[in-house]
Amino acid sequence: MSQDIWWASESFWRKNAIWITAGSFIVLIFLTFDTVDQITAGGKRVPAYSAINHRISYVFDEKRNFQVPVIGVEEPLFGKKLTEQEAAALVSHGKLTTQAKNCMNCHTLLGNGAYYAPDLTKSWLDPSWGSKEVREQQMVEFLMNPQDRLHNGLGRRMPNLGITEPEARATVAFLKWMSSIDTNGFPANFKPIDQEN
Ligand code: HEC
Repeated sequence: MSQDIWWASESFWRKNAIWITAGSFIVLIFLTFDTVDQITAGGKRVPAYSAINHRISYVFDEKRNFQVPVIGVEEPLFGKKLTEQEAAALVSHGKLTTQAKNCMNCHTLLGNGAYYAPDLTKSWLDPSWGSKEVREQQMVEFLMNPQDRLHNGLGRRMPNLGITEPEARATVAFLKWMSSIDTNGFPANFKPIDQEN
């Protein structure tokens, strides 16, 4: 009789459901802590905000077979070395600016957003900024007045979003910090700005 087979009994399947739900719940709690650890600034993959005081290079990692960001020698943004708190405040101001002006409406940040305009994850390292000496100022000027420039070969222009100079500088800090995040090689085949003298 089918009721006598243990694996066909209702109680076996009820217990199974309870154990599997409880087991998955524990795994999910563990994964949540693991993710928070990985994505917190100053953690394994996401550098501290004071990374903006340093040169960010993008170098090929033989073992992982893609380019990874490397935080190098001291090279403070706008020539001014910031404390961890000052850097955090500046990057946060930049992040709030990107949210307030809805950059994701056209761009992707770390792959999230729209595909109208280039991904901004590594835009700090974009060779179109010319040399590393003029890049910061070029970025600030571009963000404040993008409408009459064709920055790279895309053929689309970015509209003027009414970004003030302090907002533009903070956004550049946010973009510099973002370029230091280990994104497992995303975006692929990106050619970074030449940083060696
Ligand atoms: C309405 C769409 C739109 C919005 C909104 C927008 N952009 Fe753009 N952005 C563009 C387009 C189009 C380009 C490409 C322009 C070019 O190549 O000349 C661009 C280019 C850029 C570049 C140069 C990209 C590179 O890889 O060198 C940066 C940096 C940038 N935008 C930052 C921002 C930031 C920061 C915001 C939000 C404050 C923003 N954009 C909002 C359309 C937009």
